[in-house]
Amino acid sequence: MRIVITGASSGLGKHLALGYASIGNELILLARRGEKLKEVATQCRVRGAKVETIVSDVNDFETMKTIGSQLAQTPIDRIILNAGISVGHSGGVTPFEDFHRLFQTNFLSVHALLEAIIPKMIEQKSGEIVFISSLASLISMPTSIAYSSSKRALNAYAEGLRYQLKPHGIDVMNILPGFIDSEMTQKNKFKMPFILSTDIGVKRIMKAIAKKKRFHPFPLRFYVIIKMLLLLPQFLRDRIVNLTNFKKGI
Ligand SMILES: NC(=O)c1ccc[n+]([C@@H]2O[C@H](COP(=O)([O-])OP(=O)(O)OC[C@H]3O[C@@H](n4cnc5c(N)ncnc54)[C@H](OP(=O)(O)O)[C@@H]3O)[C@@H](O)[C@H]2O)c1
Repeated sequence: MRIVITGASSGLGKHLALGYASIGNELILLARRGEKLKEVATQCRVRGAKVETIVSDVNDFETMKTIGSQLAQTPIDRIILNAGISVGHSGGVTPFEDFHRLFQTNFLSVHALLEAIIPKMIEQKSGEIVFISSLASLISMPTSIAYSSSKRALNAYAEGLRYQLKPHGIDVMNILPGFIDSEMTQKNKFKMPFILSTDIGVKRIMKAIAKKKRFHPFPLRFYVIIKMLLLLPQFLRDRIVNLTNFKKGI
């Protein structure tokens, strides 16, 4: 299989790369930190995979479009759009710059890379496009308005693309993890409910991809709580959210 993974220098992306590293698989790994990417590539090669690394910033949209066009010259079996950032806000108004950065990295960069890849997948009548969204996209807390908004935009994109591409034999999957141990979550200073180890979290993602799950929120317990909150009348939901630790926002 020829598999492209963005954000492969650490966390989920790195472990997905290692998980798919086996004889017969060709991995194309993208991130900004070249040294880290090189280390991941070496570990993947030891496991038998053919590996190419691309040191690049997904926010450089013109470069992403070029990379997308170049990658699309050879059929891609699976692309995992995983690169992402989070910015926590303990209170006050979210700076516009944070919104801009989060929307660029977590949302806009995705289509810059996919623009040339999608028509090629349509031509080849096959392919898998996997998005790494977040449970935080389903409910927006005062401390993560920008992150939740960027991931909710990603959900809308993934949903529309899934309808558009299904008739062409292309599977679009949206994975919505809760908290998983990674560089991103290690920065968090609050207690993270139902946090999973990287190993378990990534295994869950790989299992969902293998089963071609179109929409996969996990862990289930956390998803059920969020779902129940969303089913409540708005005034009740507001009251409960304001009672949680997240009430420190404005
Ligand atoms: N961990 C969680 O609890 C959790 C939960 C839900 C969703 N997610 C999502 O999972 C994805 C992976 O996050 P993670 O937890 O594994 O965090 P992480 O360890 O911080 O990994 C983020 C990856 O994205 C890459 N990246 C960030 N900005 C980039 C840019 N401008 N250009 C290219 N690559 C960039 C990073 O590489 P470089 O810094 O080397 O560029 C890194 O490889 C993110 O989309 C995140 O929102 C994570």
